[in-house]
Amino acid sequence: METIAIASDHAGRELKEDIKEFLRDRGMEVVDLGTDEERSVDYPDYGFPVAEKVSKGEVKRGILICGTGIGMSIVANKFRNVRAALANDVYSARMAKEHNDANIIVIGGRMVAKGLAREIVNTWLECEFKGGRHQRRLDKIKEIEKRMCEGTVKKEGG
Ligand code: RB5
Repeated sequence: METIAIASDHAGRELKEDIKEFLRDRGMEVVDLGTDEERSVDYPDYGFPVAEKVSKGEVKRGILICGTGIGMSIVANKFRNVRAALANDVYSARMAKEHNDANIIVIGGRMVAKGLAREIVNTWLECEFKGGRHQRRLDKIKEIEKRMCEGTVKKEGG
């Protein structure tokens, strides 16, 4: 059984609860990394643990929700090995998997109704990465990521 990590800020909390139910009904194990609170919280604090788990390979995939999905996308894409895609529509969700092999899907809790959000998640889970020219492009991203990380290490070292 696949375990998937999920988190949101206050603006995505209600949608998170619905998506959790959807994922569990689909037979997935869900790790909820917050927020459980209605009060205003900061999305980086909740995007960070999901992106870290995906980055380290502790889970294969993750879902992040904030108001628009923009903030969570920015946070998640700071992490090595993370390809987070903002998908507030079904076409983006399909492309996110088929072309970008996104391992985190990000949804705007203030942009998308529950039914559509379920469709978005389902599409992303069901579609297959197409490989070929898309793999070549992902390899280039990996190369950029590697160069950026090496640059950071060098700067710190000297
Ligand atoms: C919170 O008001 C909002 O800024 C946040 O949920 C998100 O949309 C940021 O990108």
